[in-house]
Amino acid sequence: MRNKGKVMNSKSFNLAGKQGGFFHLPNDNMVKTIGVALVLCLVCSVIVSTAATVLKPRQVANKQLDMKRNILSVAGIIDDSKTVDELFEQVETRVVDLQTGEYTEAVDAQSYDQLKASKEPAFRVELSPEEDLANIRARAKYASVYLVKSGNDLEKVIIPVKGYGLWSTLFGFLALEGDAKTVSGITFYDHKETPGLGGEVDNKKWQASWQGKQLFDQQGAAVLELVKGKVDSSSSEAQYQIDGLAGATLTSKGVSNLIQFWVGDNGFGPYLNKLSGDRRKSALNSEPVTGNRG
Ligand SMILES: Cc1cc2nc3c(=O)[nH]c(=O)nc-3n(C[C@H](O)[C@H](O)[C@H](O)COP(=O)(O)O)c2cc1C
Repeated sequence: MRNKGKVMNSKSFNLAGKQGGFFHLPNDNMVKTIGVALVLCLVCSVIVSTAATVLKPRQVANKQLDMKRNILSVAGIIDDSKTVDELFEQVETRVVDLQTGEYTEAVDAQSYDQLKASKEPAFRVELSPEEDLANIRARAKYASVYLVKSGNDLEKVIIPVKGYGLWSTLFGFLALEGDAKTVSGITFYDHKETPGLGGEVDNKKWQASWQGKQLFDQQGAAVLELVKGKVDSSSSEAQYQIDGLAGATLTSKGVSNLIQFWVGDNGFGPYLNKLSGDRRKSALNSEPVTGNRG
């Protein structure tokens, strides 16, 4: 009987193996274990790559929407009854050649991505250590600017800024009044500074303290900076100074540097110079640009 049982068992296993194939192999069979793992990997990778492909357009749209929301917020354009896209109709997107300070049509303003461009050899401008105040190594040849106008009058100009803090590169937008030298607002939409220390760059009250500050001194040099501690409001320098972030001297220094870089000669300096009607003598012979210029 025992022999018969053995014969029966081995017979049924063989039959099962032949009839059921792979899935009827015992669970501890090496071929089945590896096979199941491979099939699982294949299925998962197909699901993940399909999801990535299907969701990509939505991710891009959300990123653009977030960018627009940040630009509107720093420009002070807030209206809960309207969508971001409706509000953004008030904003004109242009692209500036940073070296000349002129608007350029060399790239499409709506789709131009200067962060991507700064990595492409054709659009990348390397910065020497002396030039690289913001610690970014290179910048794009062209940069986007966002204009808010009332008729033909330029009310605000918003420029993208980025630079290294302590732990990370901070990405943000600086809004200027139509005179292209008075700060109207600042926001940082991406950074990895420590919450409560360098992360206080997100503090709305601190951001509000930037309003009305002057970027350039009488000689036209970019001087706006974060000071250690509080600004002495009775000082004549107060118009060029912002309270430093407590316990975050290095992030504060990074923010000062990135602002001075982006409004300086290697950033938007030539453009802002022209917008404000040749603030500096070096631009006296250049024709001022208006928001409408092509
Ligand atoms: C966990 C930890 C996180 C920190 N994060 C920051 C930061 O985000 N930004 C910054 O400037 N300093 C940060 N610091 C402090 C710096 O290491 C450094 O001490 C500080 O910038 C000096 O500024 P203080 O003179 O205002 O203290 C951090 C320190 C520690 C221990």
